[in-house]
Amino acid sequence: MKLIILDDYNQASEWAAKYIRNRIIHFNPNAEKLFTLGLPTGSTPLGCYKKLIEYHKNGDLSFKYVKTFNMDEYVGIGPDGHIAFNEPGSSLVSRTRVKTLAMDTILANARFFHGNLSKVPTMALTVGVGTVMDAKEVMILITGAHKAFALYKAIEEGVNHMWTVSAFQQHPSTVFVCDEDATLELRVKTVKYFKGLMHVHNKLVDPLYSMKEKGKKEAHTPKKLYSD
Ligand code: PGA
Repeated sequence: MKLIILDDYNQASEWAAKYIRNRIIHFNPNAEKLFTLGLPTGSTPLGCYKKLIEYHKNGDLSFKYVKTFNMDEYVGIGPDGHIAFNEPGSSLVSRTRVKTLAMDTILANARFFHGNLSKVPTMALTVGVGTVMDAKEVMILITGAHKAFALYKAIEEGVNHMWTVSAFQQHPSTVFVCDEDATLELRVKTVKYFKGLMHVHNKLVDPLYSMKEKGKKEAHTPKKLYSD
């Protein structure tokens, strides 16, 4: 697991977007080899999505061979530590299904429905924890002091179905991207340890050649006339 700690929401969003950009460029998708991206809904990822749109508009990133799907109907990581809509007590091997929402989630999400509780759905379609565990790589964005306890439960305590995001301790490749506020419940030692690794982790978001430049490079590279 990697824990990336940035100063604020904007920096966390940008780091996450650069990471996704680099993963897509490295993967080099084509018609036979699509890059699959499961996207969480909710407000947290919006800053990251805006950045990805910017890279696309600049011509630095193409989504032509990127297949995306929404992980849940309208949210990501909740203050109660749910991932997608896998509320506390969800099976850690669950698959995509309709889930009854916890009262905490209904209250937190009333803001998407003009504060009108009676308009907030009580059930939602969501990928399961097991479904997300099947991903080659999982990126989890956690920002704000109201998610600090969820981050603590996710990484400093054991795997527990009451905090479904903690299941990713058993995933081979998970990167948590958070802001300072989200680290408030972590041990000072944990924060120092991961901050000390930032110079290594930041290499993951170093600019690569953009798809635009790559296209040009390929156009100028003479085709091989014979195979090696
Ligand atoms: P948020 O929602 O990103 O809008 O905070 C996350 C969630 O509750 O799943």
